[in-house]
Amino acid sequence: MIDVREQKTDRSQMYEIAYEPNLIPPLELMRQEGVVVLEDWFRWAEEWSMILRIYGGLTMNSSVLEIGCGLGRIAFPLRYILVNGTYEGFEISYDKVAFLEQTFHKAHPNFRFIWANVNNTYYNPAGQLPAADYRFPYPRNSFNLVYAASVFTHMLPDATANYFHQAARVLKPGGRCVFSFFLLDYYRQGRPRPSVFGRPSFDFDHQYGNYGTDFATVVPENPEQMTAYRLDMIKRLAADAGLELAQAPVPGLWSGSFDHWVCAQDLIVLQKPGLLANS
Ligand SMILES: C[S@@+](CC[C@H](N)C(=O)[O-])C[C@H]1O[C@@H](n2cnc3c(N)ncnc32)[C@H](O)[C@@H]1O
Repeated sequence: MIDVREQKTDRSQMYEIAYEPNLIPPLELMRQEGVVVLEDWFRWAEEWSMILRIYGGLTMNSSVLEIGCGLGRIAFPLRYILVNGTYEGFEISYDKVAFLEQTFHKAHPNFRFIWANVNNTYYNPAGQLPAADYRFPYPRNSFNLVYAASVFTHMLPDATANYFHQAARVLKPGGRCVFSFFLLDYYRQGRPRPSVFGRPSFDFDHQYGNYGTDFATVVPENPEQMTAYRLDMIKRLAADAGLELAQAPVPGLWSGSFDHWVCAQDLIVLQKPGLLANS
């Protein structure tokens, strides 16, 4: 097990990992993402590549947008898959995009990364643009698949509403969104939760703003540190944006409410009405 918290774990250890180890981010950046064990980093990444194939219709020809691409964790396995496809990712943390530009994009020019100086109380408190007003920098009808892994779990509802509209605009007709959330429908105060999710940093016990019981945060003074939504609100935001729920939510591990689960977080699969020409 490779513990990335240990200062003695240096990059020379990374170079023993086969296949483009220089695409693995600097450990100090990885630690900022709360990563403790390197193998967990890869597990999340490979899991999402499976999720995108099963729920998002990802193929070798897909045109893909990742919202909040972080350090390229999920782009990493997608480079095996998107042989004839394209990948665009945007992210609000400058250092992460700088790393991806210098490494990933150079090695894989069909993977492009953009920095968006969008405000987030936790990830980019000095950001200039409100997320509720940010226009995704891509033309309409550009993508087969738009996904966000653990990003709406750090966003307020007005921002999520805008991102749903933006996703609908840039998706091709028939294209899909795969978004992870913490669904309040599965949360019970005091119920034991598995693994790290048992920590107080996942206690969604605070209502926020005028959203009533549809939305909760863990830390009201830093609301985007961790957020959770009720499914009804997600359905309303999706319908307002012209997106349909393609299927029932796919429950995650985090809440401790399900014996069978797919991802750590709950998955919402949305579709833009219409028929996809080719994917
Ligand atoms: C938990 S990390 C997940 C990163 C990446 N999706 C992954 O799976 O490795 C959450 C990411 O969302 C980004 N983020 C937060 N708010 C955002 C926003 N409004 N727009 C785009 N990215 C955002 C953060 O900067 C952070 O990199």
